[in-house]
Amino acid sequence: MGNSEKSGSAAHNGPEGRRTWWQDAIFYQIYPRSFADGNGDGIGDFPGMTAQLDYLAKLGVGAVWLSPHYPSPMLDCGYDVSDYISVAPEYGSMDDFKAFLAGAHERGIKVVLDLVLNHCSDKHPWFIESASSRDNPKADWFVWKDPAPDGDPAPQGGPPTDWPSFFVDSAWTYVEARKQYYYHIFMEEQPDLNWRNPEVRRAIYDAARFWLDMGVDGFRLDAVGSLFENPAYPMQGTGHRLHSQRMLNHAAVTPAEKKEAGRVWQRMFRYQMGMPGIHDAMKELRAVLDEYPGDRVLIGEDDNIRYLGRGDDELHMVFNFPLMKAPAITPAAVLKNQRQRLALHAALPVPGWPCNTLGNHDSTRLYTRFGQSKDLGPERLARLNAALMLTLRGTPVLYNGGEIGMEDYIIPDLSKLRDTVALWRYKSLTEEFGMGKDEAAGHACAESRDRCRTPMQWGPGPHADFCPPQAQPWLPLGPSYARGVNVTQEDADPASLLNFYRRLGTLRRKTPALRAGSWEARFPAPVGCLVYLRRAGDESVLVALNYSGKKHKLSLEESAQILFLDDGQNIVVQAEERALEASYILGPGAVLIARVAEG
Ligand code: NOJ
Repeated sequence: MGNSEKSGSAAHNGPEGRRTWWQDAIFYQIYPRSFADGNGDGIGDFPGMTAQLDYLAKLGVGAVWLSPHYPSPMLDCGYDVSDYISVAPEYGSMDDFKAFLAGAHERGIKVVLDLVLNHCSDKHPWFIESASSRDNPKADWFVWKDPAPDGDPAPQGGPPTDWPSFFVDSAWTYVEARKQYYYHIFMEEQPDLNWRNPEVRRAIYDAARFWLDMGVDGFRLDAVGSLFENPAYPMQGTGHRLHSQRMLNHAAVTPAEKKEAGRVWQRMFRYQMGMPGIHDAMKELRAVLDEYPGDRVLIGEDDNIRYLGRGDDELHMVFNFPLMKAPAITPAAVLKNQRQRLALHAALPVPGWPCNTLGNHDSTRLYTRFGQSKDLGPERLARLNAALMLTLRGTPVLYNGGEIGMEDYIIPDLSKLRDTVALWRYKSLTEEFGMGKDEAAGHACAESRDRCRTPMQWGPGPHADFCPPQAQPWLPLGPSYARGVNVTQEDADPASLLNFYRRLGTLRRKTPALRAGSWEARFPAPVGCLVYLRRAGDESVLVALNYSGKKHKLSLEESAQILFLDDGQNIVVQAEERALEASYILGPGAVLIARVAEG
């Protein structure tokens, strides 16, 4: 295999060019409500998480990102914060949080919190005060506008603009006490904070400092792209409302239709996303983090590389969402994605560091979404995609349950859904579109984000051993736990997906080229195979992933030593290393990782 193309040398993104922990660590997203129930009430909590720290350590996790753990009315499962400096009572006390943090740190696991800075809950005292009159001390803490005046293109007395919300039809809700509308890009119970107000910024930075002082290692920043709105408040004017766009999206089949639906979406939100102002805010927040020792990290919930600033003055990482959103993980899709993303990172004055993920609490689970190809089934594809995540250049972020192969569970009963967005969808399908109740319920259940949020499957017992048999889990369990998709049974099975992840995690941790190395695609690769080289210093590691249903011969010019081999059926080599012939037959779905010595 002769040709290769190279993207990115070993970047060191810490101060003075040091390599940092967040470049090396495998990140693991915990959805607190669903992870582990310590007190037996059917809701995940900190005692439960603390009890599973050894599980995380054994998986090779170097950092956890916790979805919001703050007090909240839970209309958006914690992304509607009503107090930024406390712990949700159902998750435990502040002491429980501290015990978790200390236990994680003892095991060398960093803890990254979710900072929801675009909006808070309408039950937050800040909003209650702000909404009470036009002249209270917090009057300007949210985005308030007068109703549309006479002669405005918007209907007189109605919302000031035709802007949509991501979650409900209009981004504006009227408050009688002020005779004004407030802006919310998400639900009406999630008013947007006014980031143009320095007092608001200070309040959020102080909340960040509260947790940083306690020793947390950084933040995943929710919805950074929507912190600012166009200050002229122009009409978006597409004539589309959220619902009609959703229908358009739903009906789109051909690539051209999908592209058009995406274009409409971009146009609808063009005055609400990516506005100037974000960079200054990120620089300020970065300066707050830089007050602290220990390379604390900021990860933006966005894929826009521009939020890395110069590479050393805004966010540390943004997610590689384009890969997660690809219709399928194929060699061609990965090659295209890596070329684009790595080039963008490399072009920054201080090269950026990628962050890869294939799923989170908002998207369908990796096992489901990328679980079918014309050649391979979900179990094989899950292994290939695990190997991909753990051998690409950049920090991998795993979502809890992915390591055991949890799949989406479409809860069949509308009354058991907890994702308020799905309930809104049901309401508007029935009330505005006149859809029959059963059909609308089918849509709401299938599209609800609850499908990827069901509780962690710890064992084969009732409720998958997530909570005691007599407790009512907050969301129904996915049924796959009863057929072996659970931690207890997979732990005991050397050939399980869980043990596959563990082995790859160990390999990544002890192999500098996999953690830090450059990434080069190797050509020509056998049809349907993805082959790349990771190189750091004088170490070169070759990764070959056979996404096809056929056997392929992989010829190597180099002498090679296998580090990891799953021939498509079994793990053949795990811990020990062995020499490889100059060519190798890759079975369908095979994963081969080998150290190569290039002449
Ligand atoms: C992104 C979060 O990931 C999602 O779960 C939430 O609903 C919105 N931001 C609003 O906070």
